[in-house]
Amino acid sequence: MARGEGPYDERAFFVLSLPAMSTEAFHVAFAEPHPFGFLVGIALPAGRALVPETVLSRLEAREATLARALTGFGQVRWVGGRLAAQTAGRQFGALGWCALVGPEGAPMPPLGYSLSVAHKHDLAIALVSDAANDRLGVDLEDDVKAAREIEGVFLSREERNALDSLPSGERDRALLLAFALKEATYKAFATCIGRALGYHEARVSVSPAGELSLAATFDRVSRQPVLEAVHQWRGERVIAAVRESRPQRGGC
Ligand SMILES: CC(C)(COP(=O)(O)OP(=O)(O)OC[C@H]1O[C@@H](n2cnc3c(N)ncnc32)[C@H](O)[C@@H]1OP(=O)(O)O)[C@@H](O)C(=O)NCCC(=O)NCCS
Repeated sequence: MARGEGPYDERAFFVLSLPAMSTEAFHVAFAEPHPFGFLVGIALPAGRALVPETVLSRLEAREATLARALTGFGQVRWVGGRLAAQTAGRQFGALGWCALVGPEGAPMPPLGYSLSVAHKHDLAIALVSDAANDRLGVDLEDDVKAAREIEGVFLSREERNALDSLPSGERDRALLLAFALKEATYKAFATCIGRALGYHEARVSVSPAGELSLAATFDRVSRQPVLEAVHQWRGERVIAAVRESRPQRGGC
């Protein structure tokens, strides 16, 4: 159970040096410490041309081979996500970083790290932690109209009523955040659950002060998750992150 926008942890970072920021395609748009690790955004190009070899060569060899088999925006966003992950991994001193594709499409970081990835048309982001046992999920949302169209799917009647108590401008932002929190929860837990996670298994509620919080109760698991969630707004976009820190590896 947790809520957003708290103070950053005093984590012992192995920060070598922050990469240069740029709006150029496949360059670092932002790179910053995050309460759950390190967060990097990579700018994506406007066109959908094949990713140039000069960019692919920045990936680890096995990542580049996987990327060459992709086409269109699928390739662009995958490469952006891996460059973001690699850049974040380097902040912990990770050498030879390589994140292939794990079970059910989840990114598979090197041993000793946790990773989650998200993209939109112009940006790919990756959240990396050097706590191997963390479950991480990150999501990026900016399309209020799309969220409104499917809110009946991802929100229960109770959750919608709670959002209805907010002023209309705030409701839109809360709706986007609720969607991002649920998608991030999915990414953090989908592979350990071993089945599709239902939207009702993560719940958002609204405090009297109008703040959103997240809780989860999974069906048919031996141990319920202990979630933390934070979010940040970047203009009209929200980045939501969910973490479960566990003392040791294991199932749900
Ligand atoms: C998997 C899913 C979350 C991806 O979201 P999306 O909006 O299509 O795409 P995003 O850009 O946000 O995220 C894509 C990234 O998700 C990650 N991802 C995909 N499948 C995943 C899985 N099973 N577990 C963890 N991460 C996964 C990948 O890293 C992918 O990027 P990559 O291919 O470059 O590595 C989405 O397609 C989905 O299945 N949603 C259903 C969520 C749901 O049932 N929620 C209920 C939970 S309460």
